[in-house]
Amino acid sequence: MDQKGMVELIRTRGVRDPLVLEAMGRVPRHRFVPESQRAYAYDDHAMSIGCQQTISQPYIVALMTEALDLQPGNRVLEIGTGSGYQTAILADMGMDVYTIERIPELYTQAKSLLEELGYTVHCRLGDGYYGWPEFAPYDGIIVTAAPEEVPPPLLEQLADGGCLVIPTGPRHGYQTLWKIIKRGDKIAKLDLGGVAFVPFVTP
Ligand SMILES: C[S@@+](CC[C@H](N)C(=O)[O-])C[C@H]1O[C@@H](n2cnc3c(N)ncnc32)[C@H](O)[C@@H]1O
Repeated sequence: MDQKGMVELIRTRGVRDPLVLEAMGRVPRHRFVPESQRAYAYDDHAMSIGCQQTISQPYIVALMTEALDLQPGNRVLEIGTGSGYQTAILADMGMDVYTIERIPELYTQAKSLLEELGYTVHCRLGDGYYGWPEFAPYDGIIVTAAPEEVPPPLLEQLADGGCLVIPTGPRHGYQTLWKIIKRGDKIAKLDLGGVAFVPFVTP
């Protein structure tokens, strides 16, 4: 499949936010996958990126990004930079992006590729469990690995009215993707369906 076909497939599966679809049509996903897999970069599936990690399936990237309900200029925290693809989508949409990765090799690769492609984002090597409190609150927080429970610091760092999109569930097998909205001291949770993410490594 080519990039246009990928975007069309995502649209037919129900993602309608033009900001998301346009970014998916612009960001060169083939640069974020291993060179040997470039021919399949726009197929709708996850792919191995080494270090036992994956670049997420394009439809799931689009679904999670749309669920964040963002406006250009919003501040977004991503936990799990991985290849940097999701980071690039958010940056392309005009967000102020903060991203954390725990594996040094992936952090270094993603940071230099994002720089090479001209995306201005804030990358940090470390444990995303604690978020990035110095720049909180965030209008949106996206977690691209699955913890068993929502890390409390991430909820604390979410702005009033902000959305946290996160898969939670068992380390192996399927998890539930949640959209969590914070309003004052109240939390609303919306089930976005079943997903299979790599484990969120907790301290
Ligand atoms: C599915 S991959 C990331 C997909 C990525 N967003 C992309 O577009 O390529 C999940 C990433 O989360 C990272 N990760 C897992 N637990 C973490 C933690 N506690 N803090 C930071 N990163 C973590 C993994 O090392 C991995 O790179």
